[in-house]
Amino acid sequence: MNIILLGPPGAGKGTQARLLCEQLSIAQVSTGDILRQAVADKTPLGEEAAGYMKAGALVPDALMIDLVKERVSQPDCAKGFLLDGFPRTVPQAIALQASGIMIDWVFNLDVPDAVLVERLSGRRVHIASGRVYHLVYNPPKVMGFDDVTQEPLIQREDDKESTVRHRLSVFREQTQPMVDFYAKQLLPKYVYLDGTQAVEQVTQQILNHLSH
Ligand code: AP5
Repeated sequence: MNIILLGPPGAGKGTQARLLCEQLSIAQVSTGDILRQAVADKTPLGEEAAGYMKAGALVPDALMIDLVKERVSQPDCAKGFLLDGFPRTVPQAIALQASGIMIDWVFNLDVPDAVLVERLSGRRVHIASGRVYHLVYNPPKVMGFDDVTQEPLIQREDDKESTVRHRLSVFREQTQPMVDFYAKQLLPKYVYLDGTQAVEQVTQQILNHLSH
């Protein structure tokens, strides 16, 4: 079972990815998490990606395609994986197809911009694990601290309002054509979802589709 989750910044891809991968026992491949870890570890990939990420721009396709191909060839992806944050451009989607990696389902979470800005400004994250919270919609048990490790939560640098607005325009210009690319194809199966519903409702709808 190989799945792609699509949607603009803040649509809930990371939140759903975590819940679905746990339920389905498949590997979570979140390119944003991989890049943030690389930046924190100051690896060559991180050094190259940091400037693009801070500005809310996309990391170059060639870098991302190699990264994902290598990641999904790891043993933990053999039983299935969920891609969160990849592909993000038409060339990335075409490269994925050309590499022979089969995708069964594409779920597109649609959320209007005003809701996205509110979600991203209230988001707090635990970088080491990728766990995501929201001050109002999904608060941690103790405000400001991760539920599992009790380490402090941070606000992502690219969640500042001006950067968020730029990320949304990058999504409309560079990623929306890739969403349309999947919507027009018969395979993989493409499903449009209203991402403004409660977290549990979105998860349940995806699980319902997968069980048919
Ligand atoms: P990435 O980390 O992938 O960021 P993104 O796509 O912008 O998505 P986000 O992580 O911001 O949002 P999300 O949809 O996961 O929402 P979340 O679940 O957190 O990428 C970051 C950067 O890396 C990019 O800008 C780019 O530079 C680079 N990059 C990554 N992949 C790349 C690629 N393939 N090519 C090139 N560059 C790449 O939820 C958001 C908030 O809302 C949270 O607070 C959450 O608690 C809350 N929430 C979630 N669902 C709901 C709900 N249903 N109701 C209420 N609140 C909710």
